[in-house]
Amino acid sequence: MNQTNTQGLDGVIAGETAIASVGKGHGLKYRGYDIYDLAKGASYEEVAYLLHFGKLPYKVNYQFYISTLKDKRLICEGLRHILEQIPATAHPMDVLKTGISFLGCVEPEKSDFSNQNECIERILAALPAILMYWYHYANHGHQISLDSNQKTIAAYFLEKLHRCEPNLEHVEALNSSLILYAEHEFNASTFASRVTASTLSDIYSAITTGIGVLGGPLHGGANEAAMDLITSYNTPEEAKEGIVKKLEANDKIMGFGHRVYKKCDPRNVVIKEIAKALSVGHKEEKLYYISEAIEKTMWDEKKLFPNLDFYSASAYHYMGIPTSFFTPIFVISRVAGWAAHVKEQRANNRLIRPNASYTGPEEKSFTPLSERGE
Ligand code: ACO
Repeated sequence: MNQTNTQGLDGVIAGETAIASVGKGHGLKYRGYDIYDLAKGASYEEVAYLLHFGKLPYKVNYQFYISTLKDKRLICEGLRHILEQIPATAHPMDVLKTGISFLGCVEPEKSDFSNQNECIERILAALPAILMYWYHYANHGHQISLDSNQKTIAAYFLEKLHRCEPNLEHVEALNSSLILYAEHEFNASTFASRVTASTLSDIYSAITTGIGVLGGPLHGGANEAAMDLITSYNTPEEAKEGIVKKLEANDKIMGFGHRVYKKCDPRNVVIKEIAKALSVGHKEEKLYYISEAIEKTMWDEKKLFPNLDFYSASAYHYMGIPTSFFTPIFVISRVAGWAAHVKEQRANNRLIRPNASYTGPEEKSFTPLSERGE
């Protein structure tokens, strides 16, 4: 293999998975189910179950799973105390990383991994609670109650964020978005989580690995950067002109392009539809038209298409979600995929340790420090 091919492991098959297939016929399937059908017809919890247990739940499994997740939301006083120490200026991604890391200290996974499913459910359920507890304390000094009758993660998240009964259209939209983000084969954060799992490290370490890797703007951080871009323009015309200038300056436009997809991101159809529906009648409806102008310009100028992150930005904005929560929502969703991959890696493990092609200096003879001069 030559140097160009190995850069960024582009096109390299780095292992096998039965969890998702990406880009075959430009589609995306989770365990054989088309993403479009899942995003339109399932709940995020059904999809998490599918990813973890390999099949869609029957009603009885589903009810049990939902009530287990509901029971595992509350976080202990020790964790609440830790979250109270984190300033409002911290990025919420760091808050999630810290929260999960602390959970691993007080509710550790057993060394034989026999409680891995319990730990995974705990992490799935606790992530929104960790974020919301910190957010309200750091910004308003409120120690909010994390209790709720909401059954789903989408409804719970929006209830705790806005501290009132959530808007049903927003709950449905967030639920679909969580499904779209839940899994994507060997993307950077999932692959990194698998590397951690392959050393036989614990699930909390694998998940904090994923959070750290996801945060970068070339990966999950792109949805926040896309929002900053969209709101920097006042009209579609201004957006077109601005994007052309950025492309001339060789700037990367966040929320566009993809390593695997070459013509379109199949998740974009769904999230764009959602963003459009949420924009109607909203006081910032123009953001949708500005987004469309950016999309058209990117296609006309570079034949680049929006990935999932682009329209997620305006969709979340319309739900009243602060921009700094966009990537954390990606975590709340993608944790389902990371955990499924940790389980799959463990089921047939071999240490992931590739080789590198050495490009450094030839052999040199060593001179002790005392003989090297000033
Ligand atoms: N804006 C402008 N040009 C771009 C973009 C973009 N968003 N994406 C790719 N290109 C151009 C590159 O400049 C390069 O052009 P060149 O050949 O003339 O130098 C060419 O397309 C190939 O780009 P690479 O960065 O080499 O493609 P790669 O496969 O390594 O990267 C990536 C894929 C990282 C997603 C890239 O498209 C990108 O940086 N996009 C912006 C960040 C982003 O949206 N990330 C989210 C990914 S999806 C997700 O996490 C849900």
